[in-house]
Amino acid sequence: MLSKMARTTLRSINNIQNMNGIQNYIGILSRQFSMSFSVLKPKTGIMMLNLGGPETQDDVHDFLLRLFSDKDLIPLPAQDKLAPLIAKRRTPKIKKQYMEIGGGSPLRRWTDLQGTEMVKVLDKISPETAPHKHYIGFRYTKPLTEEGIAQMEQDGVERAIAFTQYPQYSCSTTGSSLNAIYKYYQNKPKSKMQWSVIDRWPTHDGLLSAFAKNTAEALDKFPEDKRDSVVILFSAHSLPMSVVNRGDPYPAEVASTVSEVMRKLNFSNPYRLVWQSKVGPLPWLGPQTEDSIKGLCAQGRKNILLVPIAFTSDHIETLYELDIEYMGEVAEKAGVEQIVRAESLNANEIFVNALADLVKGHLEVGERHSKQLPLRCPMCVNPVCGRAREFFHSGGGTL
Ligand code: FES
Repeated sequence: MLSKMARTTLRSINNIQNMNGIQNYIGILSRQFSMSFSVLKPKTGIMMLNLGGPETQDDVHDFLLRLFSDKDLIPLPAQDKLAPLIAKRRTPKIKKQYMEIGGGSPLRRWTDLQGTEMVKVLDKISPETAPHKHYIGFRYTKPLTEEGIAQMEQDGVERAIAFTQYPQYSCSTTGSSLNAIYKYYQNKPKSKMQWSVIDRWPTHDGLLSAFAKNTAEALDKFPEDKRDSVVILFSAHSLPMSVVNRGDPYPAEVASTVSEVMRKLNFSNPYRLVWQSKVGPLPWLGPQTEDSIKGLCAQGRKNILLVPIAFTSDHIETLYELDIEYMGEVAEKAGVEQIVRAESLNANEIFVNALADLVKGHLEVGERHSKQLPLRCPMCVNPVCGRAREFFHSGGGTL
């Protein structure tokens, strides 16, 4: 490909004499290089980490099985035996929920689109680290983290970035993905790829601006005379209290996103951070989003705006839990006057530019991880957490 590009470039140089000026030449040259970046061997590979979601009905069981088998996410007694039983029992119910949102999760489509657009921006703003290529590393559906790494190795990527798509760090989510990358390299020959990690970005300015824009647009859907009194409920996925009490940084980081988004909105409305998606009988972090809707309505606060603040793309927790369950039956029974959900960030241009800016900044600073990453939860008893941190601190063992 390089020689073909060189021939094309030479043809352009010959043609320059017939052009109207150097600007035409520069324009053509930059278009050629931009197109060429997409077919050249990637220099910088960016693995977008997320949990994944079943794309079809047939994927639901395996998704649940992987999810309930993940000790970093849900530690269960006799997990090897219990996980298959829970997955089997829950499959019909979860299949039905995915049917109601169109048959499957849109997470892969959104992640792929965000990655494609991010890379286009990066090739322009950071030509010295180009060509860039995005890879997907999902924990519970394909393409799995292990498959993404294998593809990066096969492509001959030099510089690998594990880029969490959870803006706020939790050992259950980002931590689980980092442990999976570390485990992949056990019993494998040393990689030539140099790894680093963008492990959290709860107050990145582009992220805050994208959230603030979607929140403001959703507020505009309320009548003007009601708008100022609308209660904004920032809703994030909850965690078991056993994880919170272990010292997980997630609740504090989600709260920091909420405060900074409200600062961008000049604290225009009353607001609360609430938590959704609790499962099982054990205590989870609250207040629950559902209970909060009911409680506020009982107090006469009947105009409510829901803002998903810890998910960047739509998936079952927004499209089913918020849109269908909470904004449907729950809201109706609670007696809401109006309830609206802010759009997820999905393909929001500000958000995509923020992703590119995060990667560019990360490469410029040359950091292998944030200052926070080496600090394990005070009550962590998982030795893999320590070894995974050492792995990333050493650049994946290549430096
Ligand atoms: Fe948080 Fe191990 S559980 S570092």
